[in-house]
Amino acid sequence: MSTTGRLAGKTALITGAGSGLGRATALRFAEEGAAVACVDLNLTAAQAVTQEIRERGGRAIGLAADVSSSADSEKMVSDAIEQLGRVDILFANAGVAGTGNAADISEDLWDKVIDINLKGVWLSAKYVLPHMIERGEGVIINQASMGGLVGINGIFPYTAAKGGVIAMTKQMAVTYGPNGVRVNAICPGTIPTPLVYRSREERGDAPANADHSAKDAEVSKRFPLQRLGTPDDVANLALFLASDEANWVTGSIYAVDGGRSAA
Ligand SMILES: NC(=O)c1ccc[n+]([C@@H]2O[C@H](COP(=O)([O-])OP(=O)(O)OC[C@H]3O[C@@H](n4cnc5c(N)ncnc54)[C@H](O)[C@@H]3O)[C@@H](O)[C@H]2O)c1
Repeated sequence: MSTTGRLAGKTALITGAGSGLGRATALRFAEEGAAVACVDLNLTAAQAVTQEIRERGGRAIGLAADVSSSADSEKMVSDAIEQLGRVDILFANAGVAGTGNAADISEDLWDKVIDINLKGVWLSAKYVLPHMIERGEGVIINQASMGGLVGINGIFPYTAAKGGVIAMTKQMAVTYGPNGVRVNAICPGTIPTPLVYRSREERGDAPANADHSAKDAEVSKRFPLQRLGTPDDVANLALFLASDEANWVTGSIYAVDGGRSAA
């Protein structure tokens, strides 16, 4: 594995690194020379990605944390700093689906989705920011969604959380820019992952454990570029934002959605 890549010498903490977009980004960051703390609620999944990185010659550790827990979030950051020396880059990516609409969802569902997808992003930043401020540098990338940019029927609590992530990103960028910390958000369109398939099944758009390929082909027509995204589409944008190439980029909200939110 390259040690002279775009993230050579950097360390990154990625939440939700055990699957989908987080996993692809962990592999991409490691490929570009970063040491990566792969954090997930599912420790087995986090360790599998860690193992994959190590087998390719990279440096990684696997950690378990529930990002909606303050104690877990504090511990994941302190463990990463202890084991990797520091955290240069946080990718606050962990999230869950949240289906239903304003008139029909339960308060329990609202609380769960907001706790993980919004409060979880804040808690990751809360514990990494003092470390970055002390060092006078750092990069935070928040995982938002196309659902935070445009109204999409059937994913109300998810949309509320992602809209909050976008607003929080701008607020943190303005506040911590003078401390050398850059904060940006990514808004992906539909990328087939377990989260998307779960969301489809919860909305009744597909039966449980269905073959989703026909639905994927149908949905892809809604995107100007006529395809769904791939986890690497997001990993490549996250890589740019994490790298020194984005040194003057902060408070920006990046759609990576095949043009859908431009329509
Ligand atoms: N896939 C898409 O189309 C899409 C589009 C826009 C935004 N996103 C966002 O990207 C992020 C990753 O989604 P994905 O599609 O890769 O989903 P995924 O289900 O493949 O992966 C999510 C990972 O997060 C972990 N996780 C869930 N709850 C957690 C918690 N409380 N603490 C720690 N880890 C937790 C899961 O165990 C899983 O490994 C999410 O924030 C999601 O909202 C995805």
